[in-house]
Amino acid sequence: MESAPSREEAWHLLTEHTTNPSLIKHALAVEAAMRACARRAGEDESVWGVVGLVHDFDYEQNPTVDTHLHVGTGILRERGWPEPLIRVIASHADYMGVPRDTEMARALYAVDELTGFLTACALVRPDRSIAAVQVKSVRKKLKDKAFARSVSREDVRRGAEELGVELDEHIAFVRDAMAEIADALELPPPAA
Ligand SMILES: [Fe+2]
Ligand SMILES: [Fe+2]
Repeated sequence: MESAPSREEAWHLLTEHTTNPSLIKHALAVEAAMRACARRAGEDESVWGVVGLVHDFDYEQNPTVDTHLHVGTGILRERGWPEPLIRVIASHADYMGVPRDTEMARALYAVDELTGFLTACALVRPDRSIAAVQVKSVRKKLKDKAFARSVSREDVRRGAEELGVELDEHIAFVRDAMAEIADALELPPPAA
């Protein structure tokens, strides 16, 4: 496989290794955000999308820093994924020691934790609407250490900084990308 795999292949790879619905939704949210980032950057959104879709494909079976991505990158190599894409996928975890030296890598890192945080913000709303999540309220919840405590605030901050985008704008941008696939995320669609 010299070129990037298709969305169908990426989906197959993900679902072959992942059954947890939350992890599937995380993959879909990161895919949507990556596609939006690619569009903005004038890059190939199908390639950025598949990278987002599979970035955690090995996580369910390998959830530790000693296994997540160590196992996954091996599987991707066996299946002939292009090395530059494997590097991008590996680079989303600092412990892999792969520099985020491309725009695609910086985008992946910048949307990964934030999509999870935005999902948590939507779920505490009475209407569960992702589209209606306000930047101001996200900012406030980022300061509340008890809220969605598994999300690293430092990663969220650093992600936007490395990508060179202002955090408020980035929050709105990723929220809007997620709102486009609200159905798939099992969140109510935006009000018409
Ligand atoms: Fe990960
Ligand atoms: Fe992730």
